[in-house]
Amino acid sequence: MKELYCVIGNPIAHSLSPVMHTALLEQNHLNASYVPFLIEKQNFKPAIEGMKALGVSGFNVTSPFKEVVLPFLDALDSEAKACGAVNTVVARNGRWIGYNTDGVGFLQGLESIRKITETDQILILGAGGASKAIFHALMHHTNAKVTVANRTFEKAVKMVAGTAHRAISLAEAESQITDFTIVIQTTSSGLTKENEALPIRLHDVTAGTIVSDIIYNPAETPFLKEAKAYGAVTQNGLPMFVNQAAIAFELWTGIEADRDLMRNIVLKQLGGK
Ligand code: ATR
Repeated sequence: MKELYCVIGNPIAHSLSPVMHTALLEQNHLNASYVPFLIEKQNFKPAIEGMKALGVSGFNVTSPFKEVVLPFLDALDSEAKACGAVNTVVARNGRWIGYNTDGVGFLQGLESIRKITETDQILILGAGGASKAIFHALMHHTNAKVTVANRTFEKAVKMVAGTAHRAISLAEAESQITDFTIVIQTTSSGLTKENEALPIRLHDVTAGTIVSDIIYNPAETPFLKEAKAYGAVTQNGLPMFVNQAAIAFELWTGIEADRDLMRNIVLKQLGGK
């Protein structure tokens, strides 16, 4: 019987997940479809129960449902548990297992530049959902020292509480920028307006520092533009986006995802706007 995969969210129309996953399903000759479902917040419970009754094989979860989906799951992997958020659900023998592939997806992209070591000092800007996923992946899979800086300082403090990592203010992050070998921008500033204030300025960044922004559209945020101007090695959010989807596909099917195919499809969609 044909299998069904989907992505649920609100809004969902502009999600590029369906084109990426459809291409992978076709490339691997799998008898399955991947479709987007727009769910109104008040309909979340019946929608998710309906998905279970219909026997979907797996699904992605995006904003604003990454946390509210938790009570409907039978088990969580360690990243999802640590983040309290899920972006991928796998149906296994009638049980729903929740994963969070955002953090490891980000890390795979970062490590395509170079291996992260214990001598790395990593600065994460922002303390929202994406930051949390990246923080936990760095903590679980690397020996780097991590510092979190956020506009609302208390949120950064809460994130690092009980860990060996630390929180600082955005002003401190800016003045201490030379201490860091890797800077990860996870705030939503720069997502829409070209001239929106940067979370921190990068005048003093050391040439060769890796500066990564999790935004991939626009391909070069004002933050990455400034980083590049001061000699940083830059990476946008495209590798993270592709890798988090690739890991989801691999969890569902056990087949290695063709990341080049996925990247090209996303670039084509973005270029064709
Ligand atoms: P996501 O799930 O994408 O990480 P989020 O959970 O809404 O999104 O978090 C957004 C992050 O961007 C937060 O860290 C937010 O800072 P606050 O905690 O102080 O709200 C940060 N942010 C948004 N706009 C910002 C701006 N203009 N300057 C600095 N930080 C900003």
